[in-house]
Amino acid sequence: MQNKFLLEAFQTPDSVAGVLSQYYDSLPSDPYVDSNIRFRSYAHFRANEGGLTERLPHKPFTQSSKFNRVVGDIERHFAPMSDEMVATDEFQHLIRSFVERTEIDKVNGHFDVHQIRVTCNEDATSAPAPEGIHQDGFRFVGIFCVQRKNISGGYTQIFSSPVDQHPHLNTVLEENQFIILNDSRYFHHISETLSSKAGEKGVRDVFVFTAD
Ligand SMILES: [Fe+2]
Repeated sequence: MQNKFLLEAFQTPDSVAGVLSQYYDSLPSDPYVDSNIRFRSYAHFRANEGGLTERLPHKPFTQSSKFNRVVGDIERHFAPMSDEMVATDEFQHLIRSFVERTEIDKVNGHFDVHQIRVTCNEDATSAPAPEGIHQDGFRFVGIFCVQRKNISGGYTQIFSSPVDQHPHLNTVLEENQFIILNDSRYFHHISETLSSKAGEKGVRDVFVFTAD
């Protein structure tokens, strides 16, 4: 799919978000950015023969400051992802979908998965992407929405350059929707969120996939 692959958006079975959303309530806070509103875990995988995947030993995650101007060049030690969640059919379905649709090596391609919750209130915006319009610094990036509860905003936006006035795509990624893009070609951003319900927190839960 390399060179032909630009951008793909698709829907997974409805059960996926329903089963996986329970694993967000116990997520530890992200100690590196806005830890009162950001919660996060991380896992590292390798594609294996026969469409299987293998979870690799836990390691710190680092992004170059060229790509992440907020927390670049810092070794970030995120909490390991729940083994129980990784073992579910629904999570396995997501990682198979990501591997199948990208051009990563099907027998030794490494990829990362980040489980991220960002909360917001009705009177203070939260920034799901504090870097602004950015690339993650990989070949492929995937975003899967597990939950949007009481959320205004939070548009998924795809740009061809960081100074573009208008995105190619500006859409709400709803629950069970998955978007995969060529990160070396496109820039992305998630617009700020506000809670749509007075007195209640807004919650946006996603998985972010990255692969070289
Ligand atoms: Fe990103």
